[in-house]
Amino acid sequence: MELRELREIEGYEKYLKVKPLYWDHERREFVWLDTRLLPFKEVYRRTRDYRRVAEAIKSMEIRGAPAIGVSAAFGMTLAALESRARSVEELLRDLSEAKSVLASTRPTAYNLFWALDRVYRSAQEASGKGDPEEVRLGVLREALRIYVEDIRNNVEIGRIGSKLIEDGQTILTHCNTGALATAGFGTALGVIRYAWYEGKRIKVITTETRPVLQGARLNVWELTKEGIPFKLIVDSAVGYIMSRGMVDLAIVGADRIILTGHTANKIGTYMVALAASHNNKPFYVAAPTSTIQATRSVEEIEIEERSQDEVKTVMGQKITLDTVEALNPSFDITPPELITGIITEKGIARKPYEKSLQEMITEP
Ligand code: MRU
Repeated sequence: MELRELREIEGYEKYLKVKPLYWDHERREFVWLDTRLLPFKEVYRRTRDYRRVAEAIKSMEIRGAPAIGVSAAFGMTLAALESRARSVEELLRDLSEAKSVLASTRPTAYNLFWALDRVYRSAQEASGKGDPEEVRLGVLREALRIYVEDIRNNVEIGRIGSKLIEDGQTILTHCNTGALATAGFGTALGVIRYAWYEGKRIKVITTETRPVLQGARLNVWELTKEGIPFKLIVDSAVGYIMSRGMVDLAIVGADRIILTGHTANKIGTYMVALAASHNNKPFYVAAPTSTIQATRSVEEIEIEERSQDEVKTVMGQKITLDTVEALNPSFDITPPELITGIITEKGIARKPYEKSLQEMITEP
């Protein structure tokens, strides 16, 4: 079937040097690059089963808040296509179950809940005519829209954020926020990518990002592909590197931002922000407005606690005693006073964030 959404996606192909995930419309399958195997192996996986999408998110084959949200939307599409429901009521029940399974994968990434709600709402809206086929089509179209919007928003974040970067500057980043963390192009790494495409002679310093090594594995892979000069550092070098004047600004992504400006992002982000503040360096967050939760309550941010094994091993190798107890919070929360600005596809939010972020999510 000819879908307008599919044609729209074609317009963005030029930004997809790396295609981390996509919908194979002919085979009706969802396809993704298994980021666990990078940078050593580039393996694409595909499925027609939404439970497999949930498993891929949980095991971090797919990771990064926007990528998680977009994948969950396609998970819902697969659930709608898989379902044998003959009535819209039955189909909505099946979709509601798929929504719960997908929602239980990663608790911090707000884009996950945002995308699931959006797709489910589109199913409810399409159910009006009483035809399950209309609902299936409605869900597919909404997932495709979420996919293309994410790429478009990232390019826009890149364009807006790049204005903050001057020729010759060195940018520090933490965790992977590139194409691999989104539907394509990236957020914080998208800003860096855009500045590079504009011809700015920038340099990047990326942390390794223990314990899952999104910096050492994924940033290294993306930056190498682009030819952007970079250096890799251990996470604990951030303070020293900043104190020696080796960084001009820091840009990171976000898993969840609330209206107060509190930003949940990969564990270690808070320390980067503290080091930047102490050394009078700008610290920016880059994220689409789909990462913003309309709440003022920090307590609503659930911080994912992952397996102790991630801390007790490096790339599958034990680095401590089996008897050791480890703590493994996957994210931390950076308070708004440490954030210079939040770059979204709608512009740069500045303090007071309550006002600027609220305006961004209520604007049409
Ligand atoms: O645990 P991950 O790899 O999913 O964590 C990813 C991050 O913390 C990213 O910085 C965030 O999701 C933004 S990705 C554009």
